[in-house]
Amino acid sequence: MHQCLRSGVDPKYHPKRVTTYLDDLVLPIARECLSTLRANGGGDLMSGYFEPISILSLAHSLGLGEVDLKTLRRWFFGLAQGAVNFECDPERQKVADEISSEITETVTPVMERLSKAPDDSALSHMLHDGMPEGESRPFSFLLPTLKVILLGGMQEPGHGAGSIMTGLLQNPDQFAEVKADMDRLLPRAVDEGLRWVTPIGTQTRQTTRDVEIGGTTIPGGQPVAAILASASHCESRFSEPGRFNIHRNEGNHAAFGFGHHFCAGRWFARQQITTALRYLIDNAPDIQLQDQAPVRFRGWEFRAPAALEVAL
Ligand code: HEM
Repeated sequence: MHQCLRSGVDPKYHPKRVTTYLDDLVLPIARECLSTLRANGGGDLMSGYFEPISILSLAHSLGLGEVDLKTLRRWFFGLAQGAVNFECDPERQKVADEISSEITETVTPVMERLSKAPDDSALSHMLHDGMPEGESRPFSFLLPTLKVILLGGMQEPGHGAGSIMTGLLQNPDQFAEVKADMDRLLPRAVDEGLRWVTPIGTQTRQTTRDVEIGGTTIPGGQPVAAILASASHCESRFSEPGRFNIHRNEGNHAAFGFGHHFCAGRWFARQQITTALRYLIDNAPDIQLQDQAPVRFRGWEFRAPAALEVAL
């Protein structure tokens, strides 16, 4: 079942495919956002640049380009109420359930159209790829995965890009090196920033039996959260893990998870972040933090700078 789902999701987000369409998706949004920021002499890069790029480019790739930014943002915040509801608060769950129903209502007509007239959107591939001629996957089978994508894939590339940019702005020497050798060092900065502030905090599971880890037994049937943010700062692997350092050669970080459910959008996310950062740095090379106050990060399950005020 999981393989069947992945064989619908992977075709649009495969690394070779992503390079064929991502610049066309990201650059028009980046251009418009940067020109608005420039007209104001600067502003908040999170709400004014990285988040719109992240949200709109994912929606377009899915085939949901007609849903506006405000609605997409609301969907993310509603679904997130359920994802961070570790205390099982029924009020929080109600918010998530209502948004989930709204998404189903909005997306069902799009899927009905795509099931009759396929196109190159991710939703269309999810419906048709790998299916026998004339058949498509049932909507109810695809909707939970679509909601995973809307939750984890819509804001997190933007959140990650904001943290990476913070690392660069707070470390002018490393930023100067990146500007001088963008092809080689920007991808390194991207992965280091995703390690430094992991956008998604946990990978959650339920134990199927009693398991012993590090001398502690977790009973079967219990919820478990593997803390990705902690794994990416593990002192046994990373020296000075709290330091942003683009020259690390200490192996992979954990931002995209582990195992069978390893992030299906990692190539899309990396490429989107790289394109957005490259356009910004190429066109605003003198960008700097607006004041000397430290950038404040917020969120636990979804973590990013609360704002990133810059002067252009
Ligand atoms: C920087 C941005 C992103 C981060 C940090 C991230 C992180 C993750 C993590 C940690 C998981 C594993 C969750 C688990 O095992 O419980 C995951 C799964 C997933 N991600 Fe992402 N993600 C990002 C962007 C995206 C994007 C842009 C998409 C959509 C194209 C996407 C689609 C998915 C899907 C479909 C899964 C589930 C895969 C499966 O169950 O086989 N992600 N992601």
